[in-house]
Amino acid sequence: MTHWTKSSWRSKPRIQMPDYPDQAALNGVEAQLARYPVLVFAGEARRLRKQLAAAGRGDAFLLQGGDCAESFEQFSSDMIRDTFKVMLQMAIVLTHGAKVPVIKVGRMAGQFAKPRSAPMETVDGVELPSYRGDIINDLAFTPESRIPNPDNMLRAYTQSAATLNLLRAFSTGGYADIHKVHGWTLGFTDGEKAEKYRDIAARISDTLDFMAAAGVTSDTAHSLQSVNFYTSHEALLLEYEEALCRQEAETGKWLAGSGHMIWIGDRTRQPDGAHVEFASGVQNPIGLKCGPTMEADDLKKLMTKLNPDNEEGRLTLIARFGAGSVGDHLSRLIRTVKEEGANVVWTCDPMHGNTIKSSSGYKTRPFDSVLREVREFFEVHSAENTVPGGVHFEMTGQDVTECTGGVRAVSDEDLSDRYHTACDPRLNASQSLELAFLVAEELSARRTSNTVQAAG
Ligand code: PEP
Ligand code: CO
Repeated sequence: MTHWTKSSWRSKPRIQMPDYPDQAALNGVEAQLARYPVLVFAGEARRLRKQLAAAGRGDAFLLQGGDCAESFEQFSSDMIRDTFKVMLQMAIVLTHGAKVPVIKVGRMAGQFAKPRSAPMETVDGVELPSYRGDIINDLAFTPESRIPNPDNMLRAYTQSAATLNLLRAFSTGGYADIHKVHGWTLGFTDGEKAEKYRDIAARISDTLDFMAAAGVTSDTAHSLQSVNFYTSHEALLLEYEEALCRQEAETGKWLAGSGHMIWIGDRTRQPDGAHVEFASGVQNPIGLKCGPTMEADDLKKLMTKLNPDNEEGRLTLIARFGAGSVGDHLSRLIRTVKEEGANVVWTCDPMHGNTIKSSSGYKTRPFDSVLREVREFFEVHSAENTVPGGVHFEMTGQDVTECTGGVRAVSDEDLSDRYHTACDPRLNASQSLELAFLVAEELSARRTSNTVQAAG
């Protein structure tokens, strides 16, 4: 085995990364980024790892969510605020169900590079290289737009820095809106379900009112006033990751300075590939997407390589099998993890296994399939007596129409109204909150059954 360096990925097979036509321009950008400040700090990454360790034991729950792909064009402070706000709302609902702290991690401030299933895209008989995210090339369907441009990395860095700046301000500045819980369910119209959500919201509201009456206000309750909010993205574009990778003077450990948590995608998780090599040497918490093709042998190799000391909170396995397939795949992989005695945090991404083409031609995800995969995830964990540690959603705080279904039902025909995603379809604010209510129910049922077991 060769010694890890921040560049050692370069001698490994690389896939899903662009070939930049202008090497000199690429090297110039890398050198520039290498002088820039890191976006996140080692102490923050370590604190997140500690919290994730708790999630692995069932003493915390991870909520990871945000855009499929961040975009230069749609970047705005309102958009960041809205996603942040919905995530906090979801977190409060989840805390109510789980009665444990909810760890909030955005797919934000760095989620720009996209793996693609096909290298080329054909529209009306014209074939061009695929769009790979704004950090690499442009969405516009012209030959020039699709040429990978290293300058996009500088723009992605700047946008990430501005996003983090706002997130840090929101996280420490108190966010009063979070107390108006009863307003959250106003748009929910479907009788029976809406009733249930309003009931939960009313109970949360009561709790917050009671705390206020007892003198625990946001001024005194530090945890309500300041929230920990972390960033994450798929570490796909390794030139960018390497340029922001730094060694900590005190510990000698390396940090991916581009985000608190980075993950490895389902397409780039080859145990001997470039992406796994890079992630193996940094101290950030690492996510690993696990799709239906993940074999036990590979998972064993990956766990050894990514978490050789079997540290709690280091490795999060993000299961994304598709509704109907969780039983087959999650159970077998849980058994592999058990055999190895490995410490992992299991989370559920119910998005990437449930993408379909709608009758109106849009790429979409039916809310019912998303929900079904989440339920199956909880069922399997319950059967295996293991811990469901969190959820991972593609979502936005905006009122988009990209996924179908939900209490404020979006139909196939509605998709064209506000379909804004640069990549995969996201849950809108209402669908995200609805899902949080449903996950909270699962968590609360699990708590009840654990209590009964403990008593019995
Ligand atoms: C993603 O999370 O946007 C993604 C591409 O996921 P996966 O690697 O699981 O397909
Ligand atoms: Co996606």
